[in-house]
Amino acid sequence: MSDALVCVRDYELRARQILPKSVFDYYFSGADEQETLRDNVAAFKRWCFYPRVLRDVSSVDLSTTVLGQRVSLPICVSATAMQRMAHPDGETATARACLSSGTGMMLSSWSTSSIEEVCEAAPGAVRWLQLYIYKDRGLTQSLVRRAEDAGYKGIFVTVDTPYLGRRRDDVRNRFKLPSHLRMANFESPDLAFSKKEGYGEDSGLAVYVTQAIDATVRWQDIGWLKTLTKLPVVVKGVLTAEDAKEALKYGVDGILVSNHGARQLDGVPATIDALPEVVAAVAGQVEVFMDGGVRMGSDVLKALALGAKAVFIGRPVLWALACQGEKGVSDVLEILREELHLALALAGCRSLKEVNRSLLRRPELISR
Ligand code: FNR
Repeated sequence: MSDALVCVRDYELRARQILPKSVFDYYFSGADEQETLRDNVAAFKRWCFYPRVLRDVSSVDLSTTVLGQRVSLPICVSATAMQRMAHPDGETATARACLSSGTGMMLSSWSTSSIEEVCEAAPGAVRWLQLYIYKDRGLTQSLVRRAEDAGYKGIFVTVDTPYLGRRRDDVRNRFKLPSHLRMANFESPDLAFSKKEGYGEDSGLAVYVTQAIDATVRWQDIGWLKTLTKLPVVVKGVLTAEDAKEALKYGVDGILVSNHGARQLDGVPATIDALPEVVAAVAGQVEVFMDGGVRMGSDVLKALALGAKAVFIGRPVLWALACQGEKGVSDVLEILREELHLALALAGCRSLKEVNRSLLRRPELISR
């Protein structure tokens, strides 16, 4: 059997063999019974393509813009915490791979390489900061300042994590960072998730969130964030038309339809199923993105057809880092680029402008 890595699934299977169990479990897990985790991937299959033919697809353009920044493909990297558990170069490797692929990277607040280190590793890359709102608002503000100073192009504020979702394997493993690593954006061991004595009998990260992250946040705090910075602010973790309209009232610059990779409230819809109602509510006023379960180029095409400006990927990058560091991430981005290119051509589209809702149908809904 060939051991070539030709699709995202191959990287996942390989990563499972390579990574220590508690690390793989942390990266892989969804919340509770993991219903939404399975559905994030499965829901893509319920949409069918109705392609057009005979349209000269000898050349296909995948480029677009995200929050005003040009990217060579509509697939960006989502924030995933603690990437140095996957590979010693962690987030700096991801940033370099994004730069060479011409796409954007969202850096987690909980990265194991700092905001500044990632900037130095890939100064020319399109980088955004994912922000958690800490109880300490001065600290939260300083993260935004540091992102501005280091040339980040926007803030993705995560709105679905007043507490951490219950991920059973992390509870069983009493998940914490390996002792040589820390959340690099913070000074004190408390905030850097590197306390020697650990974090009790629970998932260490769940304890950390309860201690440090502000569960009182409300929509007004998005208004507060907007007053802090001129950078575009995107809310990450919206799943309903109601919240999308609320976000517009507070002047957000974009909405990322996300269920946090199914790691927060189990039983929420797959993001591809939540996307259409958010797109309809937003009615073109700001850019709408999605993440969750994107594993193939054809998944990307489905999300674009349902109105996403671009998609973000989380776990595929972690699997790629675990297998081959920077090269792995570059290769996975190129695999997805090629798959998307082929899917567009076979669907009869020459550019992303030609992708629209008419490409897709839900056969089970039509036959009723
Ligand atoms: C995440 N995600 C996440 N989100 C966020 O806002 N801040 C973070 O620090 C993290 N960390 C994180 C770690 C790991 C291991 C995973 C799997 C996910 C959620 C992430 O940004 C994104 O929404 C999902 O990963 C997208 O789903 P897929 O592509 O992993 O299916």
